Amino acid sequence: MTGARSGASAGLTRVPGLLYGGDYNADQWPEQVWAEDARLMREAGVTLATVGVFAWARLQPAPDSWDFGWLDRLLDLLHAHGVAVDLATATASPPAWLVRAHPELRPVTADGVRLEFGSRQHYCPSSAVYRAAATRLTRALAERYRDHPALALWHIHNEYGDHVTECFCAESATDFRRWLTERYEDVETLNQAWGTAFWSQRYGCFEEIEPPRTAPGPGNPTQLLDWRRFCSDALLACHRAERAVLEEICPQVPVTTNFMSMFKALDYWEWARHEDFVSDDAYPDPADPRAHVTAAMTYDLMRSLKDGRPWLLMEQAPSAVSWRPVNLPKRPGLQRLWSLQALARGADGILFFQWRASVAGAEKFHSAMLPHRGTASRGWRETVRFGAELRRLVELAGSRLRGQAAVVLDWDSWWALELDEHPSARMRWPDLLRPWYAALYERGVTIDFVRPGAPLDGYRAVLAPNLYLLTEESAHWLTRYVHGGGTLVCGPFSGISDRDDHVHAGGHPGPLRPLLGVVVDEHWPIPDGASTTVRLASGEIRATLWSEWLETEGAQALAHYASGDLAGRPAVTRNVHGAGAAWYVGCHLGADIAAVLDLALAPTAIAPAFPLPLPPGVEATRRHAEDGTTYLCLLNHGPDTVRLTLDATGTDLLTGTAVAGRLTLGPLDAAVVRLHPTEDRA
Ligand code: GLA
Repeated sequence: MTGARSGASAGLTRVPGLLYGGDYNADQWPEQVWAEDARLMREAGVTLATVGVFAWARLQPAPDSWDFGWLDRLLDLLHAHGVAVDLATATASPPAWLVRAHPELRPVTADGVRLEFGSRQHYCPSSAVYRAAATRLTRALAERYRDHPALALWHIHNEYGDHVTECFCAESATDFRRWLTERYEDVETLNQAWGTAFWSQRYGCFEEIEPPRTAPGPGNPTQLLDWRRFCSDALLACHRAERAVLEEICPQVPVTTNFMSMFKALDYWEWARHEDFVSDDAYPDPADPRAHVTAAMTYDLMRSLKDGRPWLLMEQAPSAVSWRPVNLPKRPGLQRLWSLQALARGADGILFFQWRASVAGAEKFHSAMLPHRGTASRGWRETVRFGAELRRLVELAGSRLRGQAAVVLDWDSWWALELDEHPSARMRWPDLLRPWYAALYERGVTIDFVRPGAPLDGYRAVLAPNLYLLTEESAHWLTRYVHGGGTLVCGPFSGISDRDDHVHAGGHPGPLRPLLGVVVDEHWPIPDGASTTVRLASGEIRATLWSEWLETEGAQALAHYASGDLAGRPAVTRNVHGAGAAWYVGCHLGADIAAVLDLALAPTAIAPAFPLPLPPGVEATRRHAEDGTTYLCLLNHGPDTVRLTLDATGTDLLTGTAVAGRLTLGPLDAAVVRLHPTEDRA
């Protein structure tokens, strides 16, 4: 039974309130340092430490030799200082002895290079030896610590798919064939699905099939799509094997693994089903002035992956990371603001990578809650200050956001969209999504992500920036929504292919044609650096990357191309179905999509989290507690002080002051206002 142990109001773990802490790689330090760490954790208000993430070689120095003494002492020490433990299963970095005994467990690239020991994640996800060794270690840890009073959470593995998402070795090939046999049962069905009549790719039996290793030219698209599905499943099988051990031995303790935000290689809808709650590692780049918008988008996804339940920010950098070409620190206040942003979008805990800065290893220049300089540093002061602030926000725990619009995200479609040999290689899902999300973000509209087929009740609009791969069932799902009075806005190059990535013949957008009331005669990608003018009633906007020769079949054209080969042809359309409307945007409008969304969403009466207009750089969300209390979260990402007029009164939990009518936020400042009940009009 997955996910059975989570419950929003119960908190993520048995530790009450909002969690605070980080990865504590105590195994990198002599034990004398631990006492200081435990004392300083208490000083900073740390409630949860993630322990042992890369400790496999220390825990099991040889095949039949175990060393738990140090971990016993560490857990006892942390417990004595009031710090609960998120205990890692330590399986992301197999020890040298295991790799030397079984060199074949190392992963192989598409070019046939077997990756060497000396970093981390050097294992093949399909390796039976790896899986057996990982579950053996998990079992040993679970049996030893199941009743330890410090244990609050199991942290399976670490960032599945970081570094290695796929392996092309012989064992993976066998596993891929097993997976394909389960999916297709007979090879003729596979031949049909893969379209192997093309280029003489027909298979006589499953044994003839290999992973899509580097080949002379373009690969078979369905083989590549199935390979993506398989690779996500292969890593998930590793995770599930560890989870099964923990469920058997230690069912009372919740389990999670740290996701990596909007990560292409893993279908997190499927993965989230096997987590008690979602946790995420987020590393917005301080050098990117729009990083907070992308962060908001990924936090909304994390919240959505488990139906809006609170999630955990498992890792973020207190200041700089060490893995970008140039690693900017977070200027004073940014760490606090970005942490509050995660809370504003539904997180119930803020953790960091890592507690104490390493002095050796590849991450020795990565920031930490306790920097190299120690407690005299700015970083330490921010660590302590934020720990104290979190305690003031304790009542936020368990409260939830309510999305008013839904954005459809389908990993199958993402994978298929980005396969080779398409009309344009520039159509990448995150690039298509981002401007749509930003337009809603800037209007203070809270969105949820949904997967095809999800319940859509309560959403005033459904947005599909791209649904390249779209099944008949998904088209029916969207049609039912619009016929029920909903507003759909669908982006370009959608409804193109079916589950097997075969084109829906007869005219794009395939099964969405009747709903959208349009047909695409031909795709008309826009060259790099060029743009086309599109004329809306409200003014001119610009398309880049993509346009389409679009003809209406019942829809009304609301915008036309005003320049280029398609001048005069429809660019944006609306097909009215009773109270519902199905909009089609046949081009990539970048930030100008805002003008179309304004038009499309105007009749839906979507209420932003904060009455418009929000000053630039200000983000607003609302969290609702089960008892009816509403918390208005306001974040100023901009460089200027802003003065907001509030249609409500309440108390800012961060300052403890009453808020009535007006609120001033300095640069990088935030407020979390508990609204007085009668004042919540949203
Ligand atoms: C990831 C990993 C951590 C660490 C950090 C550094 O999130 O999970 O082990 O490598 O990146 O930013």
